[in-house]
Amino acid sequence: MKFHVLTLFPEMVLQGLAPSIIGRAVEKNMISLDAVNIRDYSKDKHGKVDDYPYGGGAGMLMQAQPVYDAYRAVAGDRRVRTIYLTPQGKPFTQKMAKEFAGEEELIFLCGHYEGIDERVLEEIVTDYVSVGDYVLTGGELPAMVMVDAIARLVPGVLGNETSAEEESFYNDLLEYPQYSRPEVWKGKAVPKVLLSGNHSKVNEWRLEQSKLRTRKMRPDLYARYEEKQKLIKRLAKDKRNNIHMIESLRRGFGEMIYAEGGNVLVYDNAEKVCMILAKNSPGGKKLIEQAPEDTDLLLVSQEFVKDDLPEHEWSLLMTCHQYLYTQRETLPVRYKEIRRLTMEQFDYVCSHYEHDDSSYLEERIRSGFLYGAFDGEKIVGFAGMHGEGSMGLLYVDEAYRRRGIAESLEAYVVNRMLERGWTPYGHVIEGNEISEHLQEKLGFYKAGRKVWWLKKQEKQEN
Ligand code: ADE
Repeated sequence: MKFHVLTLFPEMVLQGLAPSIIGRAVEKNMISLDAVNIRDYSKDKHGKVDDYPYGGGAGMLMQAQPVYDAYRAVAGDRRVRTIYLTPQGKPFTQKMAKEFAGEEELIFLCGHYEGIDERVLEEIVTDYVSVGDYVLTGGELPAMVMVDAIARLVPGVLGNETSAEEESFYNDLLEYPQYSRPEVWKGKAVPKVLLSGNHSKVNEWRLEQSKLRTRKMRPDLYARYEEKQKLIKRLAKDKRNNIHMIESLRRGFGEMIYAEGGNVLVYDNAEKVCMILAKNSPGGKKLIEQAPEDTDLLLVSQEFVKDDLPEHEWSLLMTCHQYLYTQRETLPVRYKEIRRLTMEQFDYVCSHYEHDDSSYLEERIRSGFLYGAFDGEKIVGFAGMHGEGSMGLLYVDEAYRRRGIAESLEAYVVNRMLERGWTPYGHVIEGNEISEHLQEKLGFYKAGRKVWWLKKQEKQEN
């Protein structure tokens, strides 16, 4: 991902971020960051970039021409998403950070003095963003805040060990308190449960602390969390059929867009999937109207919803049976050489797993949810988890089949999900008996209803 900052103080941005994790990601070429000095584009012989505002008033304004030329130097003839940092903008949130992280390239425009000539803003700015209800002397600090929050969501930037997926805001709750050595400091002891070695008790305690904190500090977030919990409870009355929605909501990616009567729309931010449960055909149509603009995929639980969709807008990808693993016990993994994949195995994965977008496979590897079976140093198969939470991406080399490797890979993925307190589930394409048999052997239950995956059709250019 590329970040460009248009500023009068390029060193402030570059030097401010250089010593951080973001600086390290730049060095490793995971992201790129450049700061363009707007003054370099001044046509004035003294490098002047500001002038008095028409109509009078205090202070000076940044002029349109140098800002515009600096923008063109970066964007050329392309239309690049351009964020103007201003206290008048939309408040910056984690959700926005996630959305911006989906762009390939972003330009940040930092204002100074009393602002920037409106005409150039109209010409180049796509988003107006504020980092809070206070006024700073310029847009550099806000731009740095945004670059930091967005870049850390780029797969790989935080490293495989720390996943951004597991923190505050992702579970709709604030982070629980954490402690490190020594066990007692200034007479204060670390809570006993954290020393117990009992993972499920630790998780329970952490969840409770997160809830307490959120209720106290952010009642707005807590109210949203409670609403979601209510919906999860309702969906859990038919857990086998609704497991995809339940898991998306529980893991913190799912947003409740609509939930009234038997009509439910959950939007999974991670994969831009709309999950639709409709009572009847009119209900289904109403839900579709509420699907966010950027929805790429639909996962529908009733055939009539699929049949109601215009074919030129949505095409059927596959019909699947849903399988879920409801036990808490981990599964035995007989094949011992299984480990998390790194980008070293990217080419292997691409050449053995059919997907129209290889960046999806890269993102899956970097997220840390793709695991490989090895014979010494040689990779012989893989399995993992899709972005919205279902298990899949299974492949084993022909020469290594019928040795229980697929079963071990799936068991390994199940165990990683159980460790996180998730319910493992997956989608098996209708008619794939080998895969159905494997799910049953591992102890998965088959849901009574099928699900249909639909993909948005590319708009025809005229
Ligand atoms: N520029 C000055 N103050 C700002 C703020 N609060 N957010 C974004 N940009 C700004």
